[in-house]
Amino acid sequence: MKGIVLAGGLGSRLFPLTKITNKHLLPVYDKPMIYYPIQALINAGIDDIMIVTGGNYAGHFLQLLGNGKEFGLKQLNYAYQEGEGGIADALSIVEHFADDEPICVVLGDNIIENNIKQAKEDYEKQGKGAKILLKKVHDPQRFGVPELDGDKVLNIEEKPKNPKSDFAVIGIYFFDNTVFDVIKTLKPSDRGELEITDVNNHYINRGEMTWNELDGWWTDAGTFDSLLRASNLIAESGANKMGEVKSANK
Ligand code: DAU
Repeated sequence: MKGIVLAGGLGSRLFPLTKITNKHLLPVYDKPMIYYPIQALINAGIDDIMIVTGGNYAGHFLQLLGNGKEFGLKQLNYAYQEGEGGIADALSIVEHFADDEPICVVLGDNIIENNIKQAKEDYEKQGKGAKILLKKVHDPQRFGVPELDGDKVLNIEEKPKNPKSDFAVIGIYFFDNTVFDVIKTLKPSDRGELEITDVNNHYINRGEMTWNELDGWWTDAGTFDSLLRASNLIAESGANKMGEVKSANK
């Protein structure tokens, strides 16, 4: 399985912090934001990783991450998204990298406490289709929200005014290689983006979507409040997962 970290977009909700660098390079407690999604992939046993970025500061990623030595990687791959056409647009760029393998996609501003290894193994047993991870939240209106019927997800609405559940679809997704054909059929949403929620609804309509509930805390870090929350959660959890890497690399 290959890993993708999506770190494009303008980060306009964090202006002026994002006027002079990319959102995913801002600090979350003691590390740049991008460290956490990279580490989440590595902790799940995924070490063939592509980072998709964009905008004016793409070069900063190379300066910061190089070949990924700090993470114990031999190599990191990079791709550049022209414009800010949405999460699914950013994902479409990695088709050649995926090379018919399944992929695990992590949004660059999503931070989790625990490991997604079990979800990865469940998805591998599933063999095809897609898997999403859900987390109960008090503000589902900010996210993609599933309508559930027991174990079945009926559909997902992006930032609904009247959410059909109190779950958020978190920014970690497992897809088979048909995802790239799905993206080619998408039309831009009202916010002018190719939406990952539309991709997920395709899989739901095909009866090929499963979900797991994420254990441990999860947050995005794309607004002032959630960026602060992310830093506090990392600080409080003490055994910040990056610590594991440092000792593993010794
Ligand atoms: O955080 C989880 C949520 O992320 C999901 O619940 C939503 O369904 C999903 O649409 C997304 O919502 P946001 O509106 O918060 O996504 P945002 O525009 O902040 O983008 C999240 C990340 O995706 C961002 O940190 C980098 C990447 N991205 C985004 C865009 C728009 C790109 O790489 N390229 C892009 O063009």
